This record gives sequence, structure tokens and C-alpha cells, in this order.
Amino acid sequence: KGKQGLMVFDTEEELSASLAKYTAELSEKFIRERGAFTVVVSGGSLIKSLRKLTESPYLETIDWAKWHTFWVDERVVPKDHEDSNYKLAFDGFLSKVPIPPDQVCAINDALSAPGAAEDYETALKHLVNIGVVVKSASGYPRFDLMLLGMGPDGHIASLFPNHPLLNVTDKWVTFIKDSPKPPPERITFTLPVINSSSYVAMVVAGAGKAGVVGKALGNEKTADLLPVEMISLEDGELTWFADNAAVSMLPDKP
Ligand code: 6PG
Repeated sequence: KGKQGLMVFDTEEELSASLAKYTAELSEKFIRERGAFTVVVSGGSLIKSLRKLTESPYLETIDWAKWHTFWVDERVVPKDHEDSNYKLAFDGFLSKVPIPPDQVCAINDALSAPGAAEDYETALKHLVNIGVVVKSASGYPRFDLMLLGMGPDGHIASLFPNHPLLNVTDKWVTFIKDSPKPPPERITFTLPVINSSSYVAMVVAGAGKAGVVGKALGNEKTADLLPVEMISLEDGELTWFADNAAVSMLPDKP
């Protein structure tokens, strides 16, 4: 379901430049169409790939005042902790671009995991009610763009292979206390929220991702779907941004 594309780059530099161009074009489109642009980021190496967006010409040409940013997942640690996805995004991206601070919608680090998940969902409900975040046909928040990374095990956000959280449909935001990737306690968007997005960029680099990319984008379909293979956009477009190493196990390389 949904449109899917794959772009492969020789260097990290080229990948970052292309991701910046793609994001800038979507920013322009959504701001023209509805006066706002809602962007969700993950943690991990993704943030480094956003580097070119913080440089010229994008630093000057993007209408940052219209951006609203969110996290697809967060670790339950203080915002200044080394494991914090907020800190990662702030240091590598948000501190370098003029997005109004009250449009940076971070997960509350003063609450426990269940409390923080509920609080984030309440904040999203408010933003849906006032029209900043669009509502999907099936009633979930529909973000303009999700910028996601994928773990070497095929996890996306904090949705891990074979984990019961993958089946949650009655929540927008939930929590996990037994994450196989440390730290164990995390907050995450649920799969239907990811699948309600207008655009998803899946950024994958390095040989460590090759096996899963080969399985996810190869022709042989198996029943044991990894979280990344459960991305099936309701009415949106998924684009993979990969380097050569990440597609090295793909049977028909583009
Ligand atoms: C997290 C991340 C996570 C990440 C992937 C990929 O909090 O752990 O949000 O979902 O995006 O694990 O990480 P790498 O790109 O660093 O492999």
C-alpha cells in the first residue's frame, strides 16, 4: 500500500544533500498549502544526516517559523542526558535552525514512562484540535513528514521485532519498559500513527543494515514481518535514502 521509492548514494555527503533537498521541497509544499509543516524525527544516526538542512542555502530559504517538530520515540531520561533523543536532535539540528521554541514539541522528561506517553498524546490531541497537526481519515494524527532511522534488527521508532507494542492501535503514543536496545524505558509513536503520515523518509546507511534492507526491499516476501516491513502508508509516500553498503544485499540493485 502507498507509494515507495529508493534512492542510493555513494557518499554520506550526497545522501545528506538529497535528504535536505527533499525536506526543503516538502516544507515549501506544506507551508504553501496549509501554512504549517509538521516534522517528526527519530534518534540515532538520522540526526547527523540532517546536517545539510542547517547549512546554506536551506538555513536561509526554509520558512523555519512555520515548522513544528516532534519525536517518533524518546528514551525516559532527562533532556540533558547523553541517551536523550531530544538532546541529540537539539545539539545536531534544532540549535542550528530558527524554529520557534514553543513549536518544538518534546516529550516531558519530568514524568514516568506511562505518564510521559499520555502527556505527549494529550499534547498531540490539542494540536490536532487546533489544526496544527492534520487528522487522518482513520482518526490518527497525520504528520507531513517523518524522518526515520532503522535499527540493524529492523526496528523503527521504539517498535521492536515481535514485540506486542506492534499491535497497539488504540493509542497514538505508548511506552516500553523492556526495550532490547538500551535504555530499556522509552516512549514511542504507535504503528498506525507512523502509517498515517503523508511522507516518510527512511534513512539507512552502513553494512549493518544490509541484511534487513535486503529482506525489506527484496522480492521474496516472508510472513515474519519486521517492524520496518510493517510500514504500509494509508495514503502517503515512503522514500528510502540509502548508501551503497546498506543496499549491498539487495538482489536487484538499482
Ligand atoms: C532510538 C531511535 C531509533 C533509531 C534506530 C536507528 O531512540 O533508538 O529513535 O529508532 O532511529 O535505532 O538508529 P541508527 O541510525 O543509529 O542505527
